[in-house]
This record gives sequence, structure tokens and C-alpha cells, in this order.
Amino acid sequence: MKTILIANPKGGAGKTTLSTNLAGYLAHQGEDVFLWDLDRQKSALHWLSQRPANLPPIGRLDATKDKSGAGWLVLDSPAGLHGEKLSELLKRVEKIIVPIVPSSFDLAATRTFLNELGDEKSVRKGRAFVAIVGMRVDARTRAAEKLDDFLVPVDLPVLTHLRDTQNYVTAAFEGKSIFDMAPSQVAQDIEQWQPIIKWLRS
Ligand SMILES: Nc1ncnc2c1ncn2[C@@H]1O[C@H](COP(=O)(O)OP(=O)(O)OP(=O)(O)O)[C@@H](O)[C@H]1O
Ligand SMILES: [Mg+2]
Repeated sequence: MKTILIANPKGGAGKTTLSTNLAGYLAHQGEDVFLWDLDRQKSALHWLSQRPANLPPIGRLDATKDKSGAGWLVLDSPAGLHGEKLSELLKRVEKIIVPIVPSSFDLAATRTFLNELGDEKSVRKGRAFVAIVGMRVDARTRAAEKLDDFLVPVDLPVLTHLRDTQNYVTAAFEGKSIFDMAPSQVAQDIEQWQPIIKWLRS
């Protein structure tokens, strides 16, 4: 399976939001897509359990199930993921998306993680590709400027910034992704997703 890991050891960075929306996007494309929730809090699985039956389906996988088939596997990971567990996961992953919230604490924590990722063998050898997505970014704020400054020396693609919007919050309550919502309501958000989609398929 084409496997995408969403990771940032900082809590609340937007991992589950990114994972569930990514799975929702792929499902809408008619792709076979599965979520594997590595977090003990099981937020992604909770979301999946709320998903209305009339929406494009998303499967569920875990450590016990076979992952050798076709399709996409989206891995939502817990806060604090690093070290041995991270290295082990990276062996099976093709792409890693790191969501970052533009706050001082988040940037500091993420810097360490990006360094760690860069030292991982599969990343060094070009078997796994890392990209960054700015989460809850309001372009007019000083925080957004700080995020841009932080990302300048980081030698990784910064795919996009997703704005801070209740669309993600509302969708999450209903087991939906933004791709399941009225297009007129989420047009700006879907636009912001385009670079992620392009990178996934590259
Ligand atoms: N672009 C956004 N706009 C508005 N709210 C957002 C956005 N992205 C995430 N959120 C909200 O921020 C909070 C944290 O997001 P999320 O749960 O996805 O982070 P996480 O990294 O999975 O957290 P944890 O480390 O606890 O698993 C949630 O309440 C979520 O709804
Ligand atoms: Mg989460």
C-alpha cells in the first residue's frame, strides 16, 4: 500500500485533522483508502465511527491486518512519536507529512523532530520523503511570519498553509472531511489542499 505517515511529536499540531481529511480526499477520488490510528486516544477511529454510511468509504487497519494490497494507507500518529518507534514505522512509509502550528512552542518542538527525521536512514537514502504543512495559519499574523522565518533554512518542501477555520472543526464532529462538505463553503480550503494532493501523486 502507498503509505503516508502524518507525524509531529508536538500535541495538537493537526495530525488527526490532516489524516482524516487526507483519507476523506482519497475516498472521494474513488481510491481504496484505509486509516491506521496509532494513537491510544483513537481520535481518528472515533471520527471514522461517526462517518455517515452514504459517504465514500474509508477502511480501518491495525497492526494485526495485512497491508500488502493496493490502495492507500494513512497513518495518524500520537504526540511524542520519536526514537525506535519512529524508525520502525519509517521502514514501511513512503511519505511523511509534518503539520506545524505557528507558535513558539510548536516551532521549537518541531525543529528537533525535523532534525531527527533527517537523520533517519530511509529519509537519508531517499526511500521516504518528508514535507511540511502549516496548520491554522492566518497569513496576516506575526505568527505566520515567524513560521515563514522558521521554514527558510529547513531544506524540505513546504506544501501549503491551511487556514484556521471552523470548517475543519465542524467536519470533524460529523465524521466528515472538508471534501464531504458543500463545495461553496470549503472552496478556499480545497484550493489550499491542492499542493498536498499534487505532492502525494508525484
Ligand atoms: N486548520 C484548522 N482550523 C481550525 N482548527 C483546526 C485546524 N487544524 C486543526 N484544528 C483543531 O486543532 C485541534 C488539534 O488538532 P488535531 O487534533 O488534529 O491535532 P493532533 O496533532 O492530532 O493532536 P494530538 O497530538 O492530541 O493527537 C483540534 O481541535 C482541531 O479541530
Ligand atoms: Mg491526534
